[in-house]
Amino acid sequence: MDITILGIESSCDDTSAAIYKNGYICSNKIANQELHKKYGGVVPELASRAHQQNIIPVVEQAIKEADIKTDEISAVAFTRGPGLMGALLVGTSFAKGFSISKNIPLIEVNHLQAHILSLFIQRDGESKKVPEFPFLCLLVSGGHTQIVVLKDYLDMEIIGQTIDDAAGEAFDKCAKVMGLPYPGGPYIDKLAKEGDPHAFSFNKPVIKDLDFSFSGLKTSFLYFLRDQMSVDDKFIEKNKNDICASIQNTIIDILMDKLVKATKKTGIKEIAIAGGVSANSGLKNALIQHGEKYSWNVYIPELQYSTDNAGMIAITGYYKYLAHKFASLNVSPFARHKM
Ligand code: KG4
Ligand code: ZN
Repeated sequence: MDITILGIESSCDDTSAAIYKNGYICSNKIANQELHKKYGGVVPELASRAHQQNIIPVVEQAIKEADIKTDEISAVAFTRGPGLMGALLVGTSFAKGFSISKNIPLIEVNHLQAHILSLFIQRDGESKKVPEFPFLCLLVSGGHTQIVVLKDYLDMEIIGQTIDDAAGEAFDKCAKVMGLPYPGGPYIDKLAKEGDPHAFSFNKPVIKDLDFSFSGLKTSFLYFLRDQMSVDDKFIEKNKNDICASIQNTIIDILMDKLVKATKKTGIKEIAIAGGVSANSGLKNALIQHGEKYSWNVYIPELQYSTDNAGMIAITGYYKYLAHKFASLNVSPFARHKM
């Protein structure tokens, strides 16, 4: 019997729908909300309204592109959290309505778990190299920074995490003080390509075990720019490539130091990255280089599955369907972390 999952993602500012059938991705449609750019960050109320407008067209497109009939869908999986409550409610309500009207099971998905399972997404006919269990995943997004041990698709343990800001937040906040648009991570990545990563140095925090901290870095970056600008008010303009390369390099060093520590502690050599920041070219290169140095097998999600997307929700829904892990209709979203 075919297993066809409709995945719905609406945790932040991307409305997305995807179809995952019998172990392969068939479609992954994303409607980005450009409207937040001019506010320098996501405005929750505007995000919820845009999800309301986008959700039906995006689902229709995903079904059309997958070339399936609505009646073929076996279950609907949706992001339950973490995320913005109003935004999550749109996807949750849609999924519940869809489940009732089609009389199919409802599956709730943890957004962070889904980011990690994005590593397994492939199309029919593709034979991608995927991690073997157990593997370590550095999950780096706009809201989260964690090191997770995956024992199986649905069995994961967090062994380290940020005690304040996430890595993506560090990128975005540093970009903001440089006057770059939101979200700043991709802009820093682009500008860093033409810069010297050792032009400027920033203090790295000393945090115990496998935990991270990024709030001090953001503050020292702010003071550094303020001091330099008081001497030369064109400092950012003149040095933007070097500044971006240096701050990016510092963030990557902090992440990689802990990842090395985690591999030593666990003895695991199957190493992956996931989440929006895994799209960063410097981080990908650092992972590949560390892989060569320490004989790790390394895994990086495809670009379209690194930032928020419903493909990752649909694949997680697929594994939960196989495990008969269904949600009841009175399930409610959660805004804060729970894994
Ligand atoms: O996973 P994601 O799409 O949403 C969350 O679940 O948070 O991650 C978004 C984060 C943002 O902070 C964004 O700046 C960052 O991922 N990001 C990047 C890059 N692409 C996205 N950061 C650095 N370099 C990139 N190329
Ligand atoms: Zn995400």
